[in-house]
Amino acid sequence: MPTLAELAYEHTDLESDAVNHLGALVSEWGMLADFCFADMLLYLPIDEDSWLIAAQVRAATGQTLYHQDYVNTWASDSEKVLLARCYSSGEISQGEIFVQAIGGPANMLTIPVRYDGKTIAVLSREWVTDNARRAGQLESTYAEIFGKLAEMVSQGLFPFEGRVADASVAPRVGDGAIVLDAQTRVRYASPNAVSALHRVGVSTNAIGQTLAELGVAESAARNAYERKEPVIEEIEQTAEVTLLTRSIPLLVERGDAVDVIGGVLLLRDVSELRRRDRLLLTKDATIREIHHRVKNNLQTISSLLRLQARRLESAEAKEAVAESVRRIRTIALVHETLSREPGEDIAFIEIVRPLLRLVEEGLQSADRPVQFAVKGDGGRMPATVATPLSVVILELLQNAVDHGFPEGSAGGSVVVTLSHDDDALYVRVLNNGIGLNPNFDFSSATGLGLSIVRTLVTTELAGTIAMRAGSKSDGDATGIAGMTDGQGTVVDLRVPITN
Ligand SMILES: Nc1ncnc2c1ncn2[C@@H]1O[C@H](COP(=O)(O)OP(=O)(O)OP(=O)(O)O)[C@@H](O)[C@H]1O
Ligand SMILES: [Mg+2]
Repeated sequence: MPTLAELAYEHTDLESDAVNHLGALVSEWGMLADFCFADMLLYLPIDEDSWLIAAQVRAATGQTLYHQDYVNTWASDSEKVLLARCYSSGEISQGEIFVQAIGGPANMLTIPVRYDGKTIAVLSREWVTDNARRAGQLESTYAEIFGKLAEMVSQGLFPFEGRVADASVAPRVGDGAIVLDAQTRVRYASPNAVSALHRVGVSTNAIGQTLAELGVAESAARNAYERKEPVIEEIEQTAEVTLLTRSIPLLVERGDAVDVIGGVLLLRDVSELRRRDRLLLTKDATIREIHHRVKNNLQTISSLLRLQARRLESAEAKEAVAESVRRIRTIALVHETLSREPGEDIAFIEIVRPLLRLVEEGLQSADRPVQFAVKGDGGRMPATVATPLSVVILELLQNAVDHGFPEGSAGGSVVVTLSHDDDALYVRVLNNGIGLNPNFDFSSATGLGLSIVRTLVTTELAGTIAMRAGSKSDGDATGIAGMTDGQGTVVDLRVPITN
């Protein structure tokens, strides 16, 4: 289905400014249809005798005459007569048309769409008179507003210049409409508007009072009147009630001047929506605060352990406690990252980088320099995966340093490579150091480090792990120059991620 702009450019020689004017009209005309309870169509003059329907809208407040979509079809003979009359006179006029779809007559009001002093298209309201339905006060007031808006269209005063209202958020006529005079005095309030006013504590009859007297949306309406354009404003009327308002000035051209003759205030009670927004926000903030506190508590625990380690005599005991401190700090790292992120999942790379730093800090030996690097990207994952996985990676990094580059060796590189696909994360920890002992057997390794790794990977994370000697191609793949076959160690992890 071609858009209004596409149709206009294809069939007419309207300039882009004029086409934009029509676009703005169509983005706002839901309000016009709502005020007149009828279908509206936009006709473009193509040549002497043909008119193309470029857009169509139905009223949210009334019944439609047309169940079919007429966009990109041509005006019928009876319509053409009225369209041509309106186009040449530049006046709003009304007549009768024959509608094939209903097999009978209907009314058609034609409104010239004026832009830059010229009529560029014709807007129509099409409806069947319903004699059974007596027009109440709402209908007659809305009809009067519609008449004024139609007048504005024909004078080029509607749609408003410049700002295009965001129709998706703005309140609609059916949400609640208040009709104002030029002094923002309430002339009429629709039943929904009266309910909204009740909720903000306006219980007396609002008719005849100004918005200032009522204490509702006064500044928004005044702004709209002064600027002669619509103003959307969200008003926290009380602690419980939030109103979304749209103030529309009604304008009339008098000579060279444009006067405000009144206005319409559309309003919607969005309290429930906003309350839910706020709840979500606070829930998010609470979760982050909890992560922050967990991190603080873990830091306290690791400080206490460190103090205790200072009093120990045995080097082995000191080392054991130092390792525990590192493990606890690793978990604290995850919580710290989570306390900064809005959601419940994290970009894994945010944890791997500080993890490397943690290991680097614990390694203060200038005699065997070790370079650390991370490559690739692990994607995002829930905290339930990130926490055990970081403990695993810490152990692997620690082993790469401890066993790859023991005291007396020359130093080298440790590289963590991350990658992921739709269902798993792949982590490789590689070092180009001494390498595995020939008798090493992963499945029977009894050290605490690898036991932690095995338990977490296979049971907690339902993943797999493999350890092997490095090779020249591993070096090439990670950018470590001069690595030879059999050198160093490669540990590969695969962890399924379900989001
Ligand atoms: N990257 C590696 N390079 C060479 N050998 C390794 C590597 N990782 C592990 N190993 C071997 O596996 C053994 C078991 O490792 P594990 O981490 O379980 O214990 P550990 O490092 O000796 O002690 P800790 O409990 O402090 O981690 C190590 O002693 C070492 O021989
Ligand atoms: Mg270890």
